[in-house]
Amino acid sequence: MPYIRTMSKKTKNQIRTKSRQVQVEQTLQVGKGLDVGTAFFYAAEKIGDEIVFRIERDAFFDIPFSDHIKEIFERDNVKYIRKGDQFYVVGNGALRFANLFGRNVRRPLERGIISPQEKDALPIVQLLIESAVGSHRHTGETVYYSVPAQPIDTDFDVFYHQHIIDGFLSGFGYTPKPINEGLAVIFSELAEEDFTGLAFSFGGGMVNVCLANLSIPVVSFSIARAGDWIDKQVAYAINESVSTITGWKESYLDLDKRENFSRIEQALSIYYDILLNYVVGHLKTELEKSAVHLEKPLTVMVSGGTAKPNGFLKRFQETLQKFQLPIELGEIRLASQPLHSVAKGALIAAIADEIKICR
Ligand SMILES: Nc1ncnc2c1ncn2[C@@H]1O[C@H](COP(=O)(O)OP(=O)(O)OP(=O)(O)O)[C@@H](O)[C@H]1O
Ligand SMILES: [Mg+2]
Repeated sequence: MPYIRTMSKKTKNQIRTKSRQVQVEQTLQVGKGLDVGTAFFYAAEKIGDEIVFRIERDAFFDIPFSDHIKEIFERDNVKYIRKGDQFYVVGNGALRFANLFGRNVRRPLERGIISPQEKDALPIVQLLIESAVGSHRHTGETVYYSVPAQPIDTDFDVFYHQHIIDGFLSGFGYTPKPINEGLAVIFSELAEEDFTGLAFSFGGGMVNVCLANLSIPVVSFSIARAGDWIDKQVAYAINESVSTITGWKESYLDLDKRENFSRIEQALSIYYDILLNYVVGHLKTELEKSAVHLEKPLTVMVSGGTAKPNGFLKRFQETLQKFQLPIELGEIRLASQPLHSVAKGALIAAIADEIKICR
């Protein structure tokens, strides 16, 4: 380094300080968030000033092996794995091939955790995680990944699931850390309220609920009924396929509409109401058990794909009022990007950790 040798001590120190600042600024950008959802995996990372999201459909589809199919996969950049004489198309491509073959996709997760019914789930989950989070930017980069809170209406625990996700992320060179899904919503949406509030993530397999005070969860639980449950109940009630209901619901449902229903609208409206009553009923019981005491009205934040239809927030507000909860609620808001809140909150937690490490 001949140039450095000829510089004054002061200039060298200035350069060192500057390069340390650059290093610190670069370090502040690292850390990733991963929403491990029943319906979708979302990964979030910060590039420059922007948060960039990557999404993978949490699904796979099996096709018998053939050289011809393999050529098509390679040509179209389809993500797949081969196991014996089977191909598994994984992620976004699975739906395309399922529609082509007139069959349903398979799901590696069920009700928020790795599906106990699905014997082929593990390599699929591994590929989905790899494809969503991508390569690490330094060995041991922190990834916070979402886990559901302990459910109150079914009896699984999340430890097996958590252990498996941890193992995959460590294998890819990351430092994995779990974050409660509801708390991730609070990190994402309630910074101005000092991370104090009541958050709901209405997902595909679960509804996650978290009441946090200054970022500490005080009451947190999950419910094993959400969007998938609505689709199944409606499909059964009006004798349609589940995928027809899901597709219609995601494209057209308007919960503001209260009359002149088609059959599918009426059934969806009924099951949304049943779900909301079920969730708020359980919330009331949990709040009464915890005897939580608050100094001021609590901001409520709603997120997740099931909260997306027009009119959802109004119905939810009405249900909350009807149940007369033992706490006072303040403003009730819908996240600006309901599908992204969990990954964004997990990213915020990861960046905060990386800052601590670099200090
Ligand atoms: N526009 C929409 N209208 C109604 N429902 C929607 C819409 N978009 C997505 N959904 C539903 O939202 C659910 C997926 O939401 P989300 O991505 O938040 O769940 P997840 O995180 O994958 O699942 P979970 O948190 O339960 O494990 C699915 O049931 C899907 O059908
Ligand atoms: Mg979710």
